[in-house]
Amino acid sequence: MQKITDIKSIKVIQAPLAGISDVVFRGMIRKYSSKCLMTTEMLSSEMICNNPDINKQRILKFEDFEYPLSFQLVGHKIDKMTTAAKIVAPIASMIDINCGCPVKKVVVSGDGSAMMKTPELVCDIIKSIKDSTGLLVSVKCRLGWTAQSENYLEFGAAVEKAGADFITLHARTRSQMYQGTSDWNKIKLLKKELKIPVFANGDIKTIEDAKKCLELTECNGVSIGRGIMGDFTLPYRIEKYINENILIQEPNLEEKIGMLKEHLRQEVELMGEINGIKFMRKFFNYYISSVRNASKYRACLVTLEKEKEILDVLDEILHIHSADES
Ligand SMILES: Cc1cc2nc3c(=O)[nH]c(=O)nc-3n(C[C@H](O)[C@H](O)[C@H](O)COP(=O)(O)O)c2cc1C
Repeated sequence: MQKITDIKSIKVIQAPLAGISDVVFRGMIRKYSSKCLMTTEMLSSEMICNNPDINKQRILKFEDFEYPLSFQLVGHKIDKMTTAAKIVAPIASMIDINCGCPVKKVVVSGDGSAMMKTPELVCDIIKSIKDSTGLLVSVKCRLGWTAQSENYLEFGAAVEKAGADFITLHARTRSQMYQGTSDWNKIKLLKKELKIPVFANGDIKTIEDAKKCLELTECNGVSIGRGIMGDFTLPYRIEKYINENILIQEPNLEEKIGMLKEHLRQEVELMGEINGIKFMRKFFNYYISSVRNASKYRACLVTLEKEKEILDVLDEILHIHSADES
């Protein structure tokens, strides 16, 4: 199982997407990119400490192809975060500390983006995890709690001093949740301020976005979340651009629908038809956003309960689209 010892070769990180980025999602990315650093969904340090036998936890079962795989821990207690890191260390390529989640049920206990308010605590957690696991430790954070209390520059400098190996900045405040846009100018400021690698996150949905963001921020790489939904080639295409200056075209509709069918097939195989289809409803929009009448098709797709019915609608979309084109 691959440990991360040198992050220079990493240009693209799959940003954690709780409830979205599962084993099938990562497998689809791996079909194209062998280097992309994958991240688990946030894993509660308390939950891991309460169930320390990793072999008995389904949520901690990963396939070889998912590696390199960073384990993202969420929590604010030094002892729980350290113990959880020690428990997962044998199966983790590295550890990422969640200082960005804005969700109420997470921040209410001082976790996620609430950790932006307590940089000293984050520093102690970094030191403790590094000392006790020997793994690389990164931090994923936001600009700050609110626009008035933005502290990403001081926060970044503090975690660098504490030994963080890199930082990923999602350039929104907690108050913004997912509103507005990620302010890449601020990522540029952070990159200028720090010696450790900085990865840019937020609103990178195309290769052109990645190109623009990297030119502006001069970051070491990008972290992509929602942009991968509906286009699993994106990490590979960005790596190709960064490493070889080659711009590969976005997949066309036929290729995207092919990807969607494969994604659906694998989720149904993993979860069964009922749950697999329910899960896939989160994705339809992303795959078919470019087609005429996309919202009408999406509204139809999310009502279907059989894999075959979904495949038929997808074929109809393709058929109508190719008639439009000719
Ligand atoms: C559905 C969803 C789940 C997310 N789950 C996590 C998570 O578990 N840990 C985390 O650090 N960020 C999480 N995020 C934030 C993303 O990793 C990322 O920072 C954010 O979506 C901005 O990047 P993007 O525009 O590339 O999606 C989540 C975002 C979404 C939309």
